[in-house]
Amino acid sequence: MQVIKTVEELKTIRKELNGTIGFVPTMGALHDGHISLIKEARANNDFVIVSIFVNPTQFLKGEDLSTYPRKEEADMKICQMCKVDFLFMPDINTMYEEDEVLIKAPQNSYVLEGLTRPGHFDGVLQVVLKLFNLTRPTNAYFGKKDVQQLALIQQMVKNLFIDINIVPCDIVREISGLALSSRNVYLSAEQKQEALKISKSIYMAGNLIAKGERNSKVVKEKIYEVLENLDVEYVKIVNKKFDEINTIEPSNTIILVVVRFGKVRLLDNIWM
Ligand code: PAJ
Repeated sequence: MQVIKTVEELKTIRKELNGTIGFVPTMGALHDGHISLIKEARANNDFVIVSIFVNPTQFLKGEDLSTYPRKEEADMKICQMCKVDFLFMPDINTMYEEDEVLIKAPQNSYVLEGLTRPGHFDGVLQVVLKLFNLTRPTNAYFGKKDVQQLALIQQMVKNLFIDINIVPCDIVREISGLALSSRNVYLSAEQKQEALKISKSIYMAGNLIAKGERNSKVVKEKIYEVLENLDVEYVKIVNKKFDEINTIEPSNTIILVVVRFGKVRLLDNIWM
């Protein structure tokens, strides 16, 4: 595995690559969720490029940019074990200049995560487009855990005529059901135990819908019952365009739950 720190190096190497390229962008502190994306890339491409970059432009003021978990040594070992060919680990000055052309996420992104974190998706799209231009992959892998991010990247690729296949990957969970997240390290043992209510609530909702319940209000109320005592930021039942829906259509419904533990926000979702 070759570790690349500069744009020049990456460009030179990229020019030499003949074959399919699988790209997995991350912010590091790699866990089994990231690893599942890397494995998918490894299985289906001649070359695998992973990037690790804690992207400042997607953090809002007061968010956890300075404390975001950084585990460079461990991440490098994980990538090596996963047979990654190239690990791109740029610093901020490599990725950004002072006054930049900006990418603006569409108006319809200012719902759900975009409402709570206005501007977050502008920063995500900005860095992903930069990384796409540098790596020029055949396939790029994204987790369904960040379902709105995935949808916006699919939209960007379509709108800007970018010739990259976006591959959605399933959410990886602990055996307990908790969706893996780099931010789970912020939780105390007690909070982690409480957080199990999140996956429990969405599984319960999935079962209700499988049994025939179609009323969003009823399903939401049941979810809130399971999430009792937790600081719930939102429970939304939406279609794949992220419009809230009153009547559930099983093939076109996503249930999203966001719960706060102090400053930590835990996201989970289920696609029906
Ligand atoms: P990060 O949070 O590090 O996540 C990198 C990728 O891993 C994303 O596509 C995310 O959806 C996926 N992922 C995270 N947890 C997962 C889980 N439990 N199961 C499956 N996939 C999971 O998302 C970002 O970084 C950044 O916004 C980025 C796209 C790199 C742009 O900076």
